[in-house]
Amino acid sequence: MANIRDGFGSKAGVIAAAAGSAVGLGNIWRFPYVAGENGGGAFLLIYLGFILVIGFPVMLAELTIGRRAQLNALGSFKKLAPGKPWFLVGLMGIGAAFVILAFYSTIAGWTLEYLSQAISNGFSGKSADELKVSFESFQAAPFRPLIWQMVFMFLTGFIVFSGVKKGIEKYAKILMPVLLVLILIISVRSLTLPGAMGGIEFLFKPDFSKITWGVVLDALGQAAFSLSIGMGTLITYGSYIKKDINLPITALQVTAADTFIAVLAGIMIFPAVFAFGIDPAEGFGLVFIVLPNIFEQMAGGYFFSILFFVLLAIAALTSTVSVLEVVVAYFSEELNMSRKKATILGSVGISIVGVFATLSFGPLKNAVLFDKTIFAWFDFLSANVLLPLGAIFIVIFVGWHLGKKQVKDEISNQGELKVRLINVFMIIVKFFAPVAIAAVFLYGLGLF
Ligand code: PHE
Repeated sequence: MANIRDGFGSKAGVIAAAAGSAVGLGNIWRFPYVAGENGGGAFLLIYLGFILVIGFPVMLAELTIGRRAQLNALGSFKKLAPGKPWFLVGLMGIGAAFVILAFYSTIAGWTLEYLSQAISNGFSGKSADELKVSFESFQAAPFRPLIWQMVFMFLTGFIVFSGVKKGIEKYAKILMPVLLVLILIISVRSLTLPGAMGGIEFLFKPDFSKITWGVVLDALGQAAFSLSIGMGTLITYGSYIKKDINLPITALQVTAADTFIAVLAGIMIFPAVFAFGIDPAEGFGLVFIVLPNIFEQMAGGYFFSILFFVLLAIAALTSTVSVLEVVVAYFSEELNMSRKKATILGSVGISIVGVFATLSFGPLKNAVLFDKTIFAWFDFLSANVLLPLGAIFIVIFVGWHLGKKQVKDEISNQGELKVRLINVFMIIVKFFAPVAIAAVFLYGLGLF
């Protein structure tokens, strides 16, 4: 390749971009609704366990692969294991990117609708019931949600198109700190609502009678989804990280930031859920029904609602960008397309699949298979099937194919850094993580 590969410019930029990928609708929209459907406290505990013993090691494994190879998700496997079928793991990741972005962009589009409603003061004077009804009629109406989805895909494409340093990194560095401040402020308001304690209990008091293998799989899927692991996003981002950045510390910081924001989102949502008498198992719409209620009750609610939906959209955007980048890096490096062409092709292709996800709240509502709509299938397939499977292969690759010597060389920056616990890490990636993920996966799907 003649020209120099694009990449992240600074340490702060790496963290912002990787945390930008991890922190997103997965934390603020998906985590509360999945936790709500799975009984709250006990789910949270299992989720946190998975983050620590599986999520973090898989993240480090992915960054290691990417930085070692300096290539896209598929090219990395081809380079590190020439002539072997490992590249199929990369291919599966690219497939997963399509499935994830297809349904993620539906919800991301909803955030833009809610932003426009916030601006036009659309929540004001509405009761909890009215807010619920207005949400339901919006998501079922086919055109507005579709248009917003396309707008969102366009924004995503725009940033990716601008490049890694001048697009992804630049925007993440501005947007992530603002997001944090806002979520803190709104959590405080939610916590001070009358009746808030019910929500805190729901979130933090484990009730183990609710736990089934299905719940455990949901917790694993949520952990993987939220950390952006298992499909090559962090392989791709890892490939843009300079050789002097400390990978274990980066993985730790990103994991911590992501987990913190997820728990904070729970603290923001559940008190309000209980204060307004909403069912925590409400499902996909939970955040969109609950938050307008908080804003309605909040001094300065108009102002905060606008800020919040701007930030929700932003959180989504720094994540959609990272998913699209997987596809674009693959198209441009493996299929020799220009970045421009790769971005257009990727976004248009994904948008077409995405139409089906969006329409499954309206005209395609009755297209269900085993009780799940198309949207629900995309959501389930990506988090609970494709990401765990991808994660299994990634850790096996790092543990058994790369092996301790190469791993140590990469994460120590060629011997520059002292790495501790490398043996623990190797045991996790060689044995513990693959077996644990496989067991949860098989039991959770009821195949065992
Ligand atoms: N982690 C992102 C979120 O929580 C979603 C995502 C999943 C991004 C997989 C990239 C890869 O919103």
